[in-house]
Amino acid sequence: MKASYINQTGPANVIQYGELPAPKPNASECLIKVGAVDVNPLDVYIRSGMVPAKLTFPHILGRDVAGTVAECGSIVTKFKPGDRVWASNQGFDARSGTFAEFAVVDEVWLHAIPKGISDEDIVALSLVAITAHLGLVNVAKLQPGETLFVNGGTGGVGSCVVQIAKILGARVMTTGGSDDKVRACLKLGADLAINYKTQDVDAAIKNFAPNGINLWWETLREPNFERALPLLSSRGRIVIMAGRDARPVFPVGPFYTKNCSVHGFAMFNFSAEEQRPAANDVNQWLAQGLIRPRIDRVLPLAQTAVAHQLQEESTIGKKGTLAGKLVLKP
Ligand SMILES: NC(=O)c1ccc[n+]([C@@H]2O[C@H](COP(=O)([O-])OP(=O)(O)OC[C@H]3O[C@@H](n4cnc5c(N)ncnc54)[C@H](OP(=O)(O)O)[C@@H]3O)[C@@H](O)[C@H]2O)c1
Repeated sequence: MKASYINQTGPANVIQYGELPAPKPNASECLIKVGAVDVNPLDVYIRSGMVPAKLTFPHILGRDVAGTVAECGSIVTKFKPGDRVWASNQGFDARSGTFAEFAVVDEVWLHAIPKGISDEDIVALSLVAITAHLGLVNVAKLQPGETLFVNGGTGGVGSCVVQIAKILGARVMTTGGSDDKVRACLKLGADLAINYKTQDVDAAIKNFAPNGINLWWETLREPNFERALPLLSSRGRIVIMAGRDARPVFPVGPFYTKNCSVHGFAMFNFSAEEQRPAANDVNQWLAQGLIRPRIDRVLPLAQTAVAHQLQEESTIGKKGTLAGKLVLKP
């Protein structure tokens, strides 16, 4: 089968596209004929070596997948050949990567694709929507009527935080790096969208939420507590989910005197069972038209190196070149 893989970590040009043996499903796995995959910043961190990971080479890239079951292992009970399925959280912990014509996935990680939903749409939501759901519901316990602020409302995670927070009944403020992105945030349902390059974001937040923000969801890799803490309400929470190397200043005064809390989390620490309710909601909301993916562009899988380069420039190089997910098709 054709696959995108690496034999060593390094820049995007270490990515190879070529023939590898197709995997065989073990007893609890399904063999998936891949319809679409997408790129996450974590893929870039692992491929580049920024995040050291135990890899066996050749290492097939990719976390998320959508496609059709081609074959089932002997003890698989929930799926059969021909079923359309999606999954996230592959490509580590002895689970195979997904950037290939075929991928094997244990049935515990598989979800049915709702009727009428394309592989491209569901895969573009997969990891980022589960992340937003887990963070808002399990970690921060967002309540209806609360105010939420998230940086980057057209980003992978940010666009899902905006939409899911609205579904959960919050008042949502977000930012975009251009007027087009600001308009896109409003289309996603944000109550307030601010151009962080041309407007005074903090003044706009204070005006919108004079009693402070109940939940500040930080998508940036350099959280700024000096800014965020004074803008929080009493008992306000901050969610942190990026920035392994960040060592920001933390002003204690505006933190403890308001009974605030900071919650760090990484979605990959949640088990398949813990992630399933989030995936079920994402499926249901997508089928009902309550949530939609933001896809920047769809590329052939052969262009994985180009896609990694784009993601790296946009997220790590902070060029903001992307306005949604990069989806790839074998
Ligand atoms: N912990 C977890 O479970 C988990 C899960 C998924 C992702 N992550 C991490 O979360 C981070 C974000 O992931 P992502 O997929 O959402 O990335 P992304 O799609 O690249 O989004 C990044 C966002 O940041 C915004 N941004 C950049 N500079 C900004 C600034 N100075 N002020 C305000 N906004 C700014 C961008 O807005 P513009 O485009 O408008 O400039 C963009 O919307 C990554 O580091 C990723 O690895 C963690």
